[in-house]
Amino acid sequence: MESFSTLIRTASREQHEEVRGSTFLSDLLGHKLGVDAFARYTEQLWFVYQALESTARRLAGDPVAGPFVRPELFRTAALEQDLEHLRGPGWRSAVSALPATLEYAGRITECARDWPAGYVAHHYTRYLGDLSGGQIIRDTAEKTWGFAKKGDGVRFYVFEEIPNPAAFKRAYWELLDAMPGDELERQRIVAECRRAYELNNGVFLALGEEFPLSA
Ligand code: HEM
Repeated sequence: MESFSTLIRTASREQHEEVRGSTFLSDLLGHKLGVDAFARYTEQLWFVYQALESTARRLAGDPVAGPFVRPELFRTAALEQDLEHLRGPGWRSAVSALPATLEYAGRITECARDWPAGYVAHHYTRYLGDLSGGQIIRDTAEKTWGFAKKGDGVRFYVFEEIPNPAAFKRAYWELLDAMPGDELERQRIVAECRRAYELNNGVFLALGEEFPLSA
């Protein structure tokens, strides 16, 4: 039988391509938008990671989600450093979540509360993506807007405590493969992963509306 990690990866491949090809992300990484758009995106990520990480402490003891909760993944502190750099010391009073971001963060919080395996689907979709394509985003951002390499502005993409992302990802897939649950539960987790991609896409759509290209 196909391993669960392979299943979740192959079953979400289409969604991955969709989100990757979203207009906002393409424009952002295609040098067509200013640093303001990057900052606005970083703000949205802050709300998403607040939802993922404010619930993590409680889930650390959960038999299903607990093994996935790893402090070396936590991004909130890095995002706050980036926002301070991008928006200035008063960033907290000006930061706001788009409705699509609230929907995304709300769904994460709901899963964290009611369905730890669903939380894992969201955890996987964010952190494994950050460890993979996130590095391409960082590289482009550094070059486009002149951030110091792995410095303020792009710290979100730098996992100081994960020196070997490939090995980390392999260990993560093993955790996925070891998750308890029958076939039906696996299908539900895969569906939640697809939903996570859709929620990401929703945020990109909203950002695309806020930062349209003047034709
Ligand atoms: C320009 C944007 C992006 C690029 C270039 C990109 C590229 C990649 C690449 C090259 C991989 C590694 C594939 C492999 O090892 O087989 C990957 C994995 C992944 N990406 Fe993306 N990605 C992008 C955006 C996103 C976004 C926005 C998300 C979700 C929010 C995401 C979620 C994932 C996940 C979950 C994985 C891990 C799959 C796995 O190994 O199990 N990616 N991405």
